[in-house]
Amino acid sequence: MQSTETLLETPNDWALSQASRTFLAAGAFGHLIDGETVGSVSGETFPVYDPATGREFARCAAAGREDVDRAVRSARQAFDDGRWRNLEPLEKERRLRRLSGLIQDNRDLLMDLDVIDGGLVRAYSEFIVKFGQDAVDYYSGWPTKLHGSTPACPPDVVVQEVREPVGVVGVITPWNGPSAAPAGIVPALACGNSVVLKPAEQTPLAALVVGRLCLEAGIPAGVVNVLQGVGEVAGAGLVEHPMVDVIGFTGSGDTGRRIQAAAAPRLKRVGMELGGKSPHIVFDDADLEAAATTVAGAVWGHSGQVCTAGSRVLVQRGIHDELVAEVVARSRDIRLGSGFKADTQMGPLVSREQLDRVCRYVAIGKAEGAELVLGGERHGQTGYFHQPTIFTGVHNDMTIARDEIFGPVMAVIPFDTEEEAVAIANDSEFGLAAGVWTRDLGRAHRMTQAIRAGTVWVNTYQRVYPSIPYGGVKQSGYGRNLGAPSLDHYTQTKTVWLKIR
Ligand code: NAI
Ligand code: MG
Repeated sequence: MQSTETLLETPNDWALSQASRTFLAAGAFGHLIDGETVGSVSGETFPVYDPATGREFARCAAAGREDVDRAVRSARQAFDDGRWRNLEPLEKERRLRRLSGLIQDNRDLLMDLDVIDGGLVRAYSEFIVKFGQDAVDYYSGWPTKLHGSTPACPPDVVVQEVREPVGVVGVITPWNGPSAAPAGIVPALACGNSVVLKPAEQTPLAALVVGRLCLEAGIPAGVVNVLQGVGEVAGAGLVEHPMVDVIGFTGSGDTGRRIQAAAAPRLKRVGMELGGKSPHIVFDDADLEAAATTVAGAVWGHSGQVCTAGSRVLVQRGIHDELVAEVVARSRDIRLGSGFKADTQMGPLVSREQLDRVCRYVAIGKAEGAELVLGGERHGQTGYFHQPTIFTGVHNDMTIARDEIFGPVMAVIPFDTEEEAVAIANDSEFGLAAGVWTRDLGRAHRMTQAIRAGTVWVNTYQRVYPSIPYGGVKQSGYGRNLGAPSLDHYTQTKTVWLKIR
């Protein structure tokens, strides 16, 4: 294990904050259960790696079934005795606003952790922390706005449809934006639920900080528990536990299907925000400068490890060569390195597995006959870096056009007509997002109507805002994160009949 001291001495341009040094000095991290940081009953731990160096710098408690049970029972007790649910709505709002302030105060710590733990570059970690805080700001206004309704009813009765929290929510998150964890839990909290948060085992640290900040903000112990461990035990344990009422999952389709199958015997409600192979479509009337910059950013951002990565680039034939040249020009000199270096533009992949996966897909792309015009290799010998990689001449039936690679690999597919663009865009098992570049207003509307995806961006890409829902169709999942629709997942209505005559 790399000592924390060595890690902190690694030359970098960003001095680690004192808070980060203090936090990391512990070297070993645990669960947060009932307001206490605790190890696993079995004493089992797993390694935490810095993906920029490949070195282990900490250990984290690995939950067994007993720990899952402890965390869930704590959340259940907290829900059942109403310590959070029954606080008056304004008081819930005040405490959630306090949480936002604490995230702001602990920005540097959260950003440092995302860089060390997840390989984010500084600018992306800033975005991720802000995204989490923005979600808290947005949802902190909801407790006073949630309401039920009074449906039309016969005159001898009064009927109320009361909107209630669902109970204990298990939130299972991926590793690509660890400090966005608040965005995963606040919709459930705003509705009065208790939460057990299970962060990805590749990036366990930020969730622990978020859990502690919740306590500091006055969200009572037990309302937010953080459970560390591998998916097959800690995640699966939450899905199977009879005291967990609802699951919110973000991650891969394979794991999503496993979770849905495991939830079926208990008829447990699950929300699924899964992967994508999003088409980013550029027509010949587009602003090519803007399109080229955005097309590049939409695949290189966090080294392609973003669910909405615009990894299938569909280009109209007349501008194909020009656009590819512009994208290559913007990608060729990208500086890879640790997020702690000021001039780094692209960081590592999160793990050895993820790097191997990307290398495997690049080999498949070559074997299938796509033309490699940029990159194609691992970068350096330490850490999990991969060069930005562009394939042209891709057919939509090639593996690199069909599978979510989750790495810096762009597949460029030429098309001639609008109809053809729609057909290629929709010929995918996924339907998370899409982008369209055109100055033709009619075409923009025709495309947004024709594309089967949860989000379509026109002349922009990957914009998010907490009041605006996002989520997928087809194999990209169902249910919506953010915005008012997300609240439906964490509430249910109770119908009350009262005879008055
Ligand atoms: P994953 O989907 O297995 O992991 C996501 C979360 O699910 C983690 O917290 C994990 O511990 C948990 N999990 C794993 N197995 C579970 C189970 N049986 N029951 C309950 N929870 C479980 O993703 P993984 O394996 O880390 O990455 C594999 C691929 O998935 C990536 O290469 C990428 O293509 C895709 N992926 C897509 C994401 C997206 O946002 N679209 C996010 C993460 C991964
Ligand atoms: Mg997995």
